[in-house]
Amino acid sequence: MSAGIRSLFRAAYRADPLGVWSAPGRVNLIGEHTDYNDGFVLPFAIDRRTTVALGLRDDNVIRLASTFSDETVSLTLADLDAAVAGGRVTGWAAYPLGVAWALGQLDADLAGARGVDLLIDSDVPVGAGLSSSAAIESAVAVALDEVWALGLDRRTLARVGQHAENAVVGAPTGIMDQSASLLGIRDAAVFLDCRTLETRTIPLDLAPNDLAVLVIDTRVHHSHATGGYRDRRASCEAGAAALGVPALRDLGVDDLSRAEGMLDDVTFRRVRHVVTENARVLSTVDALGSGGPAAIGSLLDASHVSMRDDFEISVPELDLAVSVARENGALGARMTGGGFGGAAIALAPVAELERIGAAVVDAFAGAGFAAPELFPVTASDGARRED
Ligand code: GLA
Repeated sequence: MSAGIRSLFRAAYRADPLGVWSAPGRVNLIGEHTDYNDGFVLPFAIDRRTTVALGLRDDNVIRLASTFSDETVSLTLADLDAAVAGGRVTGWAAYPLGVAWALGQLDADLAGARGVDLLIDSDVPVGAGLSSSAAIESAVAVALDEVWALGLDRRTLARVGQHAENAVVGAPTGIMDQSASLLGIRDAAVFLDCRTLETRTIPLDLAPNDLAVLVIDTRVHHSHATGGYRDRRASCEAGAAALGVPALRDLGVDDLSRAEGMLDDVTFRRVRHVVTENARVLSTVDALGSGGPAAIGSLLDASHVSMRDDFEISVPELDLAVSVARENGALGARMTGGGFGGAAIALAPVAELERIGAAVVDAFAGAGFAAPELFPVTASDGARRED
């Protein structure tokens, strides 16, 4: 992996990189739109990664090139604050530059920092709800943390990535994706309490049970900087305020009947999704511990129904992917990520993957939808230095 990006770096910058770092995308097993409500999530890092080659410079300039855009960007780090404030940091460069800026807000002296050349490559599909943006942010964050000798821990780097996304990219997203990308552990999911940022490693044991997680990318693209994601977050915050709690995390299933009498129908259903989804995350962690992965199918199904009917973030392509996967042997299936497009996941016996894939492709063609992209994923390690 590193040999390829090293030679791309040489072609772009006519020098050898100092090192290569990488960070994965993620699948969320369960716990959707719970992170910004101070709740629980259970994502895992996947075997699709963003790789960053970095070279140190003798000046204060940051230069960026990537394999997914012809655009190259060059900026003096001392000017980054003004560029961000002036809205001049846009497009894909907002992710890596946003991370450099957020490090400056936190700990790094950007005006005094050594400049860097970065080359970014990625095999995390963009717009599929698999956190291609968090993979870029996390890979750049670990690389800059190391070469600028900042010594920040992984939870702080996750906050840095989130800050970049919120303040520079302009998407009001939570802490889940960067946490999964930075804290992921092979063959395990990361159980994260988004209020305390405490984590527990939850073994998935998929392969020993002849099970796999299949991603069904509908190729319906979404953006969380506009529209539905922002609206859902605002409804959750309005619901918490009306119910007199700091965050929806502070409500349990027993509080729902009281909430129903106090909220309008739409806000109530948004609240009910978050409250029941938090409970499903806890049940999934318990079920994985006591019954293994075969025991969580109905929780995945219930999560999808809640997102479709209460939170209203699914689309027909995701609903079709989920129902066809279930009808063809999946133990459970749900959309994953922020919604309004992107991917579904199906938990299925390895022996059924081909049948499920063929049935989904046929069903999409029959419905007149664009062909989906299907691939199994395995739980992988988080961000790391490659060489
Ligand atoms: C996106 C956001 C996350 C999270 C999910 C929904 O992936 O980046 O913070 O809110 O949507 O669970």
